[in-house]
Amino acid sequence: MTVEQEILELREFLHKQNHNYYVLNAPIISDMEFDQKMHHLQDLEAAHPEFYDPNSPTQRVGSDLSMQFEQVEHQRPMLSLGNTYNRGEISDFYNRIVREVGHAVDITCELKFDGVSISLIYEDGKLVMASTRGNGVVGDNVTRNARTIHTIPLQLTGDYPAHLEMRGEVIMPRAGFDALNRQREEIGESTFANPRNAASGSLKLQNSSQAALRPLECILYYVLTDDVNFATHAESLERAKAWGFNISPNYRLCHSLDDIYEFVDYWAEKRDSLPYDIDGIVFKVNDLHIQNELGLTAKSPRWAISYKFKAEQAHSRLLSITYQVGRTGTITPVANMEPAQLAGTVVRRASLHNADIIAALDIHEGDTVVVEKGGEIIPKIVGVDLDKRPEGAQPIAFPTTCPVCGTPLVRVEGEAAHYCPNSLGCLPQKIGRLAHFISRRAMNIDSIGDETCELLVKKEFVNTFSDLYALTIDRILTLPGFAQKSAENLVAGIQKSLEVPYARVLYAIGIRFVGETMAKALANAFPSIDLLKAATYEQLIAVNDIGDAIAKSVVSYFAEPDNVAEIERLRHIGLQMEQKVVEKAGSSLEGFTFVISGTFARHSRDELKALIESHGGKMLSGVTSKTNYLVAGDNMGPAKLEKAQKLGTKIISEDDIEKMIQ
Ligand code: IVH
Repeated sequence: MTVEQEILELREFLHKQNHNYYVLNAPIISDMEFDQKMHHLQDLEAAHPEFYDPNSPTQRVGSDLSMQFEQVEHQRPMLSLGNTYNRGEISDFYNRIVREVGHAVDITCELKFDGVSISLIYEDGKLVMASTRGNGVVGDNVTRNARTIHTIPLQLTGDYPAHLEMRGEVIMPRAGFDALNRQREEIGESTFANPRNAASGSLKLQNSSQAALRPLECILYYVLTDDVNFATHAESLERAKAWGFNISPNYRLCHSLDDIYEFVDYWAEKRDSLPYDIDGIVFKVNDLHIQNELGLTAKSPRWAISYKFKAEQAHSRLLSITYQVGRTGTITPVANMEPAQLAGTVVRRASLHNADIIAALDIHEGDTVVVEKGGEIIPKIVGVDLDKRPEGAQPIAFPTTCPVCGTPLVRVEGEAAHYCPNSLGCLPQKIGRLAHFISRRAMNIDSIGDETCELLVKKEFVNTFSDLYALTIDRILTLPGFAQKSAENLVAGIQKSLEVPYARVLYAIGIRFVGETMAKALANAFPSIDLLKAATYEQLIAVNDIGDAIAKSVVSYFAEPDNVAEIERLRHIGLQMEQKVVEKAGSSLEGFTFVISGTFARHSRDELKALIESHGGKMLSGVTSKTNYLVAGDNMGPAKLEKAQKLGTKIISEDDIEKMIQ
């Protein structure tokens, strides 16, 4: 066999395994075998650049080259759909078609996926172009980013047509969206408002290796080709499934208006059970001859229409706005309303986020506000009922001083939030900081509950973190509810935290914008607190993943003498202030991501994490579509397991890990 043949065979083999794994959720080879073949292909390709193919399975990882989006003209214009909002309009559509055709017609009902529409062009089974809708005539060439999405086949299988265009939607499942926003929050970047914006932003990333890290999926719903004569839309979907496309199983062929209503009612109620957002239902005439006869208008086909779910709304009177002070001093306005019934729950409170949002909504005192609950779980205030505004009502004035300690608030240029700068004296900040310090992922002092945490600060037993380590059993016994045993436990829990590794100490001390992931990155780049303290802005920003806001925040943290003194006290007490050298034991897990859950027979969770990391694996905190393995122990959380099963994440045991690193 020549090298070229070997490369081609490996590519074909891996394309097939990818499809089994990501689309069918039914892998037939072991992950090990898959990884070995992939590495072998990577080696061969590196040694033989003459056989480069942008559609090779190895290209799924993207590249670091920046790109400018080129504009491409669509082969056929990308039309939009007419919208309906109620049953009357659905029946108008259905009756019009029956009238024009002269007899009853079948309608395929599909979910209306809430993402970004995309056109994929395949020549001889190979993906050659992916473009966004743009203005319907011309779109952005996003091929390089699209190639990183596992549910977009790069190479088709079976008897696919020579020329094919597929249309569909790039979406971000909610779980991945939540994880992405959490990560962004940690590093001080703005969060995405909803999964659709996140999908769109990700597809337009300049750097495709960044796009490869975003949990995107693609669901296809429209097959365009002159090379196959399908009789119906449903048939075209089934055939496309066989060519390797990700087709939603949740479409239904409806024979009557009643069938259609049933489908609509079902999904209006069950939409929350899907792992991604939908914003309505799409109805399409199933028979392609009839579709042809009905034709198109300039804007949309006459054979299809969409029905948009209404976000449920309620009107409620604003009673007051409370301003919450977070541990970093950020002020969050929260609206307190008269209880209102909304989509099955009683709503009393809704976040107003910041002063800009209040101003944009132009909320006045005593206003009746409109609260909405769409697909999202959290209600939001979307407007004001001006007819009900009390006479002479004044606009809401955002406070100029901290509602708790009275210190004048500051607002950093370019940031939406106001914050209270009195970090050392402001009570909610002190309590919040201590609660963060002792939290599970930080110092993990679980012998101190919420109430005790608050008491310790209020009674001034603990002003700074170091005070915590000076607490004696006798002192704890003066707190309500404590007896000898519980006081001993509390102190023992505090002492145990001296073992917590440096990266988590960095997270615990609460430097602004330094979340868990960032603390790890900082600990790796600056393996002791002295090195971190000495780091300049330029040195910090030179580290991968560390952006401007974090670099500035670290520098200003160490510029504060109180902070430096506290670090010295903590060091003296015995907290870990440098990275323990983890011997790199191997590289067999390199390139793979892991989540662990539950308890294990032979390792503590921390040991297992260290073991994985010392073999090059990367730990993630939650299961997303980018998680390769979920290491499942006893009593693991059912939510993680369910998510992993839904996403098709490989679930392995402690034994498997040991085998993998041998
Ligand atoms: S069919 C010519 N089917 O909705 C018909 N569209 O408002 C092409 N969409 O631009 C569209 N789910 O981005 C179709 N099952 C589905 C859909 C769907 C979501 C989006 C699509 C389109 C928009 C129309």
